[in-house]
Amino acid sequence: MRANVTATGQGKLIVFGEHAVVYGRPAVACSLPTGARATLQRAATPRWVIEHPGGLIDANADADILKAGNLLLEPFGLCADELDIRIEMSIPLGAGLGSSAAMAVAVARGAARLLDLNEADTEQRVSRAVIASESVFHGKASGIDQQAAMGSGFFTFRKTDSGPVVDPLKVDAHRWVVARVAPSKSTAAMVQSVADRRERLPEVTESLFDDFAHTSEMGARALTAGAWDVVGELMNVNQGLLEAIGVSTPELEAACTAANQSGALGAKITGAGGGGCILALAQDDDDRLVDALGEYGDVFEFTLAGRNSTT
Ligand code: PMV
Repeated sequence: MRANVTATGQGKLIVFGEHAVVYGRPAVACSLPTGARATLQRAATPRWVIEHPGGLIDANADADILKAGNLLLEPFGLCADELDIRIEMSIPLGAGLGSSAAMAVAVARGAARLLDLNEADTEQRVSRAVIASESVFHGKASGIDQQAAMGSGFFTFRKTDSGPVVDPLKVDAHRWVVARVAPSKSTAAMVQSVADRRERLPEVTESLFDDFAHTSEMGARALTAGAWDVVGELMNVNQGLLEAIGVSTPELEAACTAANQSGALGAKITGAGGGGCILALAQDDDDRLVDALGEYGDVFEFTLAGRNSTT
């Protein structure tokens, strides 16, 4: 067993199809070039610290994180109270950017490295471990965050009974802007609120999920074609669908409107909604968007490209 290891996991943006993806509809997401870095070592005095853009968390004092952590370490025969774990986050926590999956993948990969597992063994065990720990934060999770946390670039994702179907997308580099508009709601609570609405309004909700699916499918084609105007228009359609299933808020809608009035090609919630972040598709060299969104909260800029991108 190694003495000290580090490993990483990526954050993510959902470009199309959140929530509907839980019900088997396709979604489009992109792994961020940044996320979580975990350092693990065996220690007589266990400690679990998360350093993030908003401060420092003592994970040993947080029942949910500890529960998720032990579910994560169990498949490796490890336990939180025998390890010193330090996680450095370069994305905000609980903002819809896939922080929990990024952390989970970083820690699980670290655990595999600590045990010197071979690559084939590692990916399978990491995947199993992350699914277990994500259930603490997501309730009924689709697995899209985990996929993004382990991968890179843009991809379409569909949950099926025989496992996820993932297709990498070739997308040229483009500027995307994220604004953290409001404090986040729990992903599990938002997923449950959609499940409750589906229970009350089954036909309407299922038909909205089908509209999400068409938006994701057309969005994937527009992304690979570099048809940025179409991508932006479809993001606005996606936002309308998120409003229709009840996961938007007046603050998120105001920020999307401000983005569109300040040169964005389109804007929508990214992630579970109820608060958290919006994602806007920027036009190149247009600073009005960043200035406008700065009025709503912290702004993050990313230049994202898909695997095999030409630029
Ligand atoms: O809020 P986030 O970033 O964890 O995104 C959740 C995405 C959902 O589609 C709402 C849930 C899921 O597991 O796919």
